[in-house]
Amino acid sequence: MSEPYDVIVIGGGPGGYVGAIRAAQLGLKTAIVEKRGTLGGTCLNVGCIPSKAMLQSSHHYEMAETEFADHGVQVSGLKLDLKTMLGRKEKVVDDLTKGIEFLMKKNKIDYHVGTAEITAPGEVSVKPPKKGARKQKLQTSNIIIATGSDVTPLPGVTIDEKQIVSSTGALSLPKVPKTMVVIGAGVIGLELGSVWRRLGAEVTVIEFLDMALPGMDAEVSKNMQRILKKQGMNFKMKTKVTGAKAVRGGVNLTMEPRDGLADGAKAETLKAEVVLVAIGRKPYTDGLGLKKAGVEVDERGFIPVDEDFQTNVEGIYAIGDVIGGAMLAHKAEDEGVVCAEIMAGESGHIDYDSIPGIVYTHPEVAACGKTEEQLKDAGTEYNSGKFPFTANSRARCNADADGFVKILSDKATDKVLGCHIIGPSAGDLIQEVVNVMEFGGSAEDIARICHGHPGLPEAVKEAALAAGGRAIHI
Ligand code: FAD
Ligand code: NAI
Repeated sequence: MSEPYDVIVIGGGPGGYVGAIRAAQLGLKTAIVEKRGTLGGTCLNVGCIPSKAMLQSSHHYEMAETEFADHGVQVSGLKLDLKTMLGRKEKVVDDLTKGIEFLMKKNKIDYHVGTAEITAPGEVSVKPPKKGARKQKLQTSNIIIATGSDVTPLPGVTIDEKQIVSSTGALSLPKVPKTMVVIGAGVIGLELGSVWRRLGAEVTVIEFLDMALPGMDAEVSKNMQRILKKQGMNFKMKTKVTGAKAVRGGVNLTMEPRDGLADGAKAETLKAEVVLVAIGRKPYTDGLGLKKAGVEVDERGFIPVDEDFQTNVEGIYAIGDVIGGAMLAHKAEDEGVVCAEIMAGESGHIDYDSIPGIVYTHPEVAACGKTEEQLKDAGTEYNSGKFPFTANSRARCNADADGFVKILSDKATDKVLGCHIIGPSAGDLIQEVVNVMEFGGSAEDIARICHGHPGLPEAVKEAALAAGGRAIHI
C-alpha cells in the first residue's frame, strides 16, 4: 500500500484538476484519478474547447461565404474541408489536455488513470482501464469528488452518437447533414446548431418552453432567437418530442404540442438526417460507491455540500457540475480552488451572484447578476441602461453590430445588479462588469472610467451612462 495522501481528487475536469493544483500549491500531498485516459474532463475533451474550436472554424467559413465580399475581399473556389476542420479541433484538444498532464507533473501531483470508487471514508480504490488489471487501493485524509455531469437522456430517443447524437457526437459528425433537428434551445443546442447551420445544414430547433435560452434575461432570449432566425435557424417552440427512430438515411421524429394534442389531432412527424439531443446535463456519480461511503445525494442525483464544499461525510468534499448550480467550467474551477484552500485551513468563498454565463453563438450572449425578471419578482427598484452596437463605432467598422448592452443598477444606490449583452465579443465585454460587481461598484463607476476608442467596451460605458439617463452617442 502506498503512502497516504492528504487529498485525492476524483475527476480530472476543470473542477478537479484546478483543485488538485491549488491543493498541491498549498503543500498538500495530492493525487488525481481520472478514468477517461486524458485530463481536462468534459470541458476540454468534449465540451467547451472542441465546441469553441468548431464555432470559430465554422464562423470563418460563413464569413468567407457571406460577408467577405462586403469588405471588398473576393473569394472564389471557397470549399469546406470538414476533415481538416475536425482535425484542427482534435489538435487543439490534444495540446490542451497534454498541457494539463504537464501541469500535474510540474505540481508533483500523482495522476492515476482509472475509475475511482470510494470504498470507505479515507480509502479510494482505482480500477485501471486495462482488462484484468488489479485495483489499486489508495489511502487519504480527504477526498474531493469532481466527477462532473453527463447528458440527460430523453425517453423514447436512444442516442447512438451517429444519427441520434449528444453534444459529443455533434462535435465529430463525419459529414455535414442536409437536415438536423436539435432538441432543446439551450446553450448546447444554439451553439452546436449554429456550427452545423453555418456549414450548410438546415437546422430546426425544437424547444419545450416558449423561449430559447430559458433563465436568461427575457429581452435577451427574445432578441437572440430573432437574430438566429434571421441567420436561418428554424424554431419550433412549445413542442415536445415523443419519439425518435433511426431509420436508413435519417431519423423519424414524432412530436406534439407541449400542452397535448387537440381532440382528434395527430402527432406531427419530421424526418432529419441527424438529431442532436441537448436537453440538459445530469450529475454523474456512477460506480463511485457513494452509498457504501454514506454520501447523500438529492432527488436529482446532485451531491449536497455545505459552504465548505463538505458532503454529509467528514473528509469527503464535492465541487463542480456534480453539486449543481451553474454547470460551467469557471464555476467548477473556482470551487476547486476554494475547496482546496478551506481544506488547507485557509478561508475562501465564491460570489455566485457574479458568475458570468456566455453563449458562444454569433453574436455572443453574455450575462451576469440578476435579470430584469428576477429584479421585478424580488420587488427591487432598478435603473436600466441600454446601448445598441449599431451606435458603437468599432462594431460598425467591423460590420458586426447586432445586439446591445444592458446594465441594471439599483435605483437608490446605483450599484450594478446585472448586465446582459448580445453582441460581438460579449463574452469578453461582460468581464468588465463582473469585476465592477465583485467590488460592489456602481454604473457611475463604469461610466467614469476612460474606455479606449474606438472599442467595443465603449458600448458598456454607454450602457452605464444610459442607466443614469445620460448616454452620449444615442
Ligand atoms: P467534468 O468536466 O465533467 O469532469 C469530470 C471528470 O470526472 C470526467 O473527466 C470524468 O471522466 C471523470 N470521472 C467521473 N467519474 C469518475 C470516477 N469514478 N473515477 C475517475 N474519474 C471519474 N462550460 C463553460 O464554462 N464554457 C463553455 O464554453 C462550455 N461549453 C460546453 C460545451 C459542451 C458541449 C458541454 C457538454 C459542456 C460545456 N460546458 C461549458 C460545461 C463544462 O464542460 C462543465 O461545466 C465542466 O466541464 C464541469 O467541470 P467538472 O470538473 O465539474 O466536471
Ligand atoms: P440547457 O439547460 O442549457 O438547455 C436545455 C434546453 O432544453 C432548455 O431550453 C430546456 O427548456 C429544453 N428542454 C428540456 N427538455 C426538453 C424536451 N423534452 N423537449 C424539448 N426541449 C427540452 O442544457 P444544454 O444546452 O444541454 O447544456 C447543458 C449544460 O452545459 C448547460 O447547463 C450549460 O451550463 C453547459 N454548457 C455551457 C456552455 C457555455 O457556457 N457556453 C456551452 C454548452 C453547454
